[in-house]
Amino acid sequence: MIYIKNRSEIEKMRKAGKFAARLLTYIGDYVKPGVSTLELNDICEDFTKKHGNKSAPLGYKGFPKSICTSINNVVCHGIPKAADILKNGDILNIDVTPIVDGYHGDTSKTFIVGGSTEAIYEKLVQDTEKAMWIGIEQVKPGNRINDICDAIDDFLTPQGYGIVRDLMGHGIGRVFHEDPQIPHFKMNRKLAKLEPGMTFTIEPMVNLGTYEVNFSKEDKWTVTTKDGKWSAQFEHTILVTDKGYEILTLPE
Ligand code: MF3
Ligand code: CO
Ligand code: CO
Repeated sequence: MIYIKNRSEIEKMRKAGKFAARLLTYIGDYVKPGVSTLELNDICEDFTKKHGNKSAPLGYKGFPKSICTSINNVVCHGIPKAADILKNGDILNIDVTPIVDGYHGDTSKTFIVGGSTEAIYEKLVQDTEKAMWIGIEQVKPGNRINDICDAIDDFLTPQGYGIVRDLMGHGIGRVFHEDPQIPHFKMNRKLAKLEPGMTFTIEPMVNLGTYEVNFSKEDKWTVTTKDGKWSAQFEHTILVTDKGYEILTLPE
């Protein structure tokens, strides 16, 4: 069941989204060669707490840290670690989800460590962000979730990318992950119609090779590409409005 938010819930989603955006902008300044992902985690946790908010990932289904940090061939849900030291040319997705006054704001971005990398990774990162925007542009009442899926797939698949299928965008609100699911690839059945007051994420995970992924048996979280090729992701939390959409996690 898709939960439609009322005015006061939407106001709280706006606050949570704004704080998530601030947090992601803030941590971006710390992304540099030589920094560990655990340091990035701790800086985010401190900033979140200092503002009276909570980190949703911490303890979520047993997740051990406050943010997800996913480097190169890691697709998503990477666990911050002291041993994971950023190197020039790495691509790093940071995914933050603070809880503000009971509501979640979920956003992520792939950073290029040191500012540049090989051309094919630069293009992967650019195209992944573009895919997210192309999906967002489909959000308006009367359109279906399929319009988001199709637009993203039509942009990425002809270029040979693998679109991750095992993880999708999701409804969000008081609950971190709720209905509906938002696939980033074509579905051969009709999905729900978009209605004002729906809030969900669009968060394509795009691989340079196969779409297939592995789930770590050791730590139970880390998702990697099956072929070891690199993967990028961008994410925003979106509200369906009367006319179209509002991006709740847009930075200032
Ligand atoms: N923020 C991720 C998402 O976009 C979910 C992370 S779940 C965690 O849905 F437990 F790994 F944090
Ligand atoms: Co999400
Ligand atoms: Co996220």
